[in-house]
Amino acid sequence: MSVKPSLAKTTRGGGAGWRLSCLQSSNNDTERRSCLNGNLRGGRKSEREREKDGGGGAEQEDCAPALRDGFPKESDFEVVTGETVSLKNLYLSCDPYMRSRMTKHEDPSYVSDFTPGSAIVGYGVVRVVHSGKPNIADGDLFWGMTGWEEYTLIENPESLFKIKYNDLPLSYYTGLLGMPGFTAAVGFHEICSPQKGEYVFVSAASGAVGQLVGQFAKLMGCYVVGSAGSDEKVELLKNKLGFEEAFNYKKETDLKAALKRYFPEGIDIYFETSAGRCLTPASIICSITTKRIRMQGFLVFDHFHKYPEFEDRVAQYVREGKIFYLEDIAEGLESAPAALIGLFSGRNVGKQLVAVSRE
Ligand SMILES: NC(=O)c1ccc[n+]([C@@H]2O[C@H](COP(=O)([O-])OP(=O)(O)OC[C@H]3O[C@@H](n4cnc5c(N)ncnc54)[C@H](OP(=O)(O)O)[C@@H]3O)[C@@H](O)[C@H]2O)c1
Repeated sequence: MSVKPSLAKTTRGGGAGWRLSCLQSSNNDTERRSCLNGNLRGGRKSEREREKDGGGGAEQEDCAPALRDGFPKESDFEVVTGETVSLKNLYLSCDPYMRSRMTKHEDPSYVSDFTPGSAIVGYGVVRVVHSGKPNIADGDLFWGMTGWEEYTLIENPESLFKIKYNDLPLSYYTGLLGMPGFTAAVGFHEICSPQKGEYVFVSAASGAVGQLVGQFAKLMGCYVVGSAGSDEKVELLKNKLGFEEAFNYKKETDLKAALKRYFPEGIDIYFETSAGRCLTPASIICSITTKRIRMQGFLVFDHFHKYPEFEDRVAQYVREGKIFYLEDIAEGLESAPAALIGLFSGRNVGKQLVAVSRE
C-alpha cells in the first residue's frame, strides 16, 4: 500500500530521468522481488543528443525522447543494482512538526515541505529487506526517516540510526528511544541544566516528550508538576508517571492562579511542550524579563551526535524499571491519517505511533 505514484521523476546520478518503481505499491511477491533486485531507470541522453535538442536542462526535456516515437525501446532503460537499501516499515511515528511540512513555505523551513503525490516522510522503525550497501546487512534494524508505506527504497541509509537494543519493544524507537525521547533528554538535561530539588513544571505532560521530561526530572530529585488536557491524562501523570501533582488546564479559568497553587515558592524550570496553545501567561513572560530568566529554544537535530550515549542510558533505565512509557498505537497504515490528525486536538494518550507490521 502506498501514496506514491508508480512513475516517478528522479535526478539521481546527476542526470534526470524517469524511474519505474513498483515496490511501494505491490502486494505481489514476484513483483516485489524484482524491484528489490534493481530499479528500472529511464535512459539518459548523451551530451551530443542534448546539444542537438538545444541543450535544455529541464527534466521533462531529458526524458521525452523515450516516448517521442510512441513507444519506449529497451535501450531507453538502464537496470541499476546495488545502490539502494530496501526497508520494511514496522512502526511509523506521528509527530507535531509534520503539520508544518504540510504547509508550503516560501522561505525554506528547518525541514522540507512534503511533496504532494509522494509518500509522506517521517520517523519510523524499519527492517532491511535487501541491502546494496556493504556496511548494512539484510535483517538489520534501524530508526530514522522513512516513508508512510509498507516498503521504502532509500539511497542515503547514512541518515538512519542502527538499533542497538532489539530486546526492548521496537516501538520505543519512535518515542522513548527515538527522536522525542532524545528531545526530552537534550531539552531537560542540556538546555535546562537542572539541579536536585528544583521545582519543574511541564505542560502537555502526557505527550511523547512531556512524559519523559517529567520522569527525567523525578530521577534528578526534582519536584514535578504537569498539566494535561483531560482528567484521564491527569490521573496517568500522578499514578503511572510519578508526577507529584498534575492538573487539567482546560478546567482552569486562571492559569496564573493554578501555577501559584502548585508552586507557592515559584518555578525553577518551565518546560513548554504544548503542541498547540502556549500556556505561558503574559505575567510569566513579564517575570522572565524582570527576574533575568533564561528562555531558550533548541532543535534536537543539532544534538544527534550525542544519541549513542542517550540510547545506552535510557535502555538501562527501562531495564531497571525506572522509566515508564505511555504509547498510543494505531494499527495498520490505513489508520495513519486519523492518528496524525488526532495529535492536534490532544486525542492521543501518550506517544502516538502507527504499527504497520508487527512481523
Ligand atoms: N525542538 C525540537 O527539536 C522538538 C522535537 C520534538 C518535539 N518538539 C515539540 O515538542 C512538542 C511536543 O511534542 P510531542 O511529540 O510530545 O507531541 P505530542 O505527543 O502530540 O504531545 C503534545 C500534546 O500537546 C497537546 N495539544 C495538542 N493540541 C493542542 C492544542 N491545540 N492546544 C494545546 N495543547 C495541545 C496535547 O496534550 P493535551 O491533551 O494534554 O493538551 C498533546 O498530547 C511539540 O510542540 C513538538 O513540535 C520539538
